[in-house]
Amino acid sequence: MRPGNLLLNWAAPFSNDLSSHCTMPQEAMKAPVVVLGAGLAAVSFASELRQAGYQGPLTVVGDEAEPPYDRPPLSKDFMGHGDAEKIRLDCKRAPEVEWLLGVAAQSFDPQAHTVTLSDGRTLPYGTLVLATGATPRTLPALQSAPMPVHTLRTLEDARRIQVGLRPQARLLIVGGGVIGLELAATARAAGVHVTLVETQPRLMGRAASSTLSDFVARYHAAQGVDLRFGRSVTGFTEGTVLLDDGARIAADMVVVGIGVVTNDALARAARLACDDGIFVDAFGRTTCPDVYAIGDVTRQRNPLSGRFERIETWSNAQNQGIAVARHLVDPAAPGYAELPWYWSDQGALRIQVAGLASGDEEIVRGEFSIESPKFTLIELQKGCIVGATCVNNARDFAPLRRLLAAGAQPDRAALANPATDLRKLAAAVGT
Ligand code: FAD
Ligand code: APR
Repeated sequence: MRPGNLLLNWAAPFSNDLSSHCTMPQEAMKAPVVVLGAGLAAVSFASELRQAGYQGPLTVVGDEAEPPYDRPPLSKDFMGHGDAEKIRLDCKRAPEVEWLLGVAAQSFDPQAHTVTLSDGRTLPYGTLVLATGATPRTLPALQSAPMPVHTLRTLEDARRIQVGLRPQARLLIVGGGVIGLELAATARAAGVHVTLVETQPRLMGRAASSTLSDFVARYHAAQGVDLRFGRSVTGFTEGTVLLDDGARIAADMVVVGIGVVTNDALARAARLACDDGIFVDAFGRTTCPDVYAIGDVTRQRNPLSGRFERIETWSNAQNQGIAVARHLVDPAAPGYAELPWYWSDQGALRIQVAGLASGDEEIVRGEFSIESPKFTLIELQKGCIVGATCVNNARDFAPLRRLLAAGAQPDRAALANPATDLRKLAAAVGT
């Protein structure tokens, strides 16, 4: 287990180390299987359950009326093309599934093994999978502001924001995390004036090294984003938003990207172990018999830090869903243990991050230039690779993830030399 906390998720890493927390003992899957939520984790789970050979009844309940779709494009290319069909999730690998869309699960009864739906129906379950994701936090100070104030989580949110991305429009973004920055880049490309207010002294503070934060700030400033650090929104007047330093920001639209809270209310009501996320083990088991959880709604032991954290990334939702489905069909299947990683596309920057945001030493490979950025940051802790960030340097990322997984201690000079082929280095240490 590596030292320190893994700063690698889309929302706040949590530090409560609840290693004493226990989940249910091994048990065989029971039919019918019911999944609550119809996002990436649910689709990934349902597809793999079918592909792994489960042929019993399988129902997916989603409160969005939209057929399942992918979220990452919402802050990126969707804002350009606006075509929902281009971002649909492929459900063809999940045949014979009953999709109940536009219907919310209101509660479930672990004793009776039933789910109550918003349309009055009660669904029996043998195995229940909670894949209810997360909801963006909002800003009370803008509760009744005169201009449109949005968060960005759903296709509906994206459609509303897209309408406001007109050339010369004035957009205020609150929050300098991945959502805020991806949208800032998208808006600038559309000729929108962008001001971004970040309460911390740096950008992406929870998921990026300070070296990356500084570079990203320089990049967005060079694109014309007006960055305000260490500031917060206090209120509004007719056409402006007020900041705590007295500044008035003229805004035709505001988008708030200040983190999310998990949709764990159903689990809390059924008295499952939760702490802004449903505790699960490597098999997705919760503290309630026959109830599993996957994706953004979970809190799981992070293989790098060994602590229970929320790991809200696309790869986690997809691959945790797959691992839990495989385990339900074959209890001998290995548990989920992917080292968390994520990507973020911000204008010309393809940022890929795995592992710790910082160690006791950082090695830089490549070009830091704003005009043609192509670099890699490697975080070491006592000589061990504990984290990696690649910016427009995808060739380095896969071997670095392998070296990270192996806890490798490669030669520093070799790592720092851009001419070193990291794939050969990874092969040399047998990963
Ligand atoms: P969700 O996708 O949130 O799905 C949960 C579904 O359950 C939702 O449709 C919700 O409405 C529904 N639901 C909730 N409660 C109920 C209920 N009671 N009954 C029925 N249905 C319910 N990750 C990356 O790694 N890289 C990226 O570049 C990236 N970009 C992103 C950009 C945006 C704008 C967003 C929002 C996310 C991005 N992510 C990115 C994160 C990634 O998309 C998520 O981690 C992933 O989609 C989570 O999937 P999920 O199925 O766990 O949750
Ligand atoms: N005012 C200004 N900035 C704030 C405030 C505030 N009141 N509160 C928080 N912030 C800043 C944080 O310091 C952080 O830099 O907002 C940023 C939020 O960044 P993230 O935690 O990365 O959250 P967000 O960008 O909203 O993305 C989280 O997106 O990709 C999905 O599933 C993923 O759930 C995750 C979500």
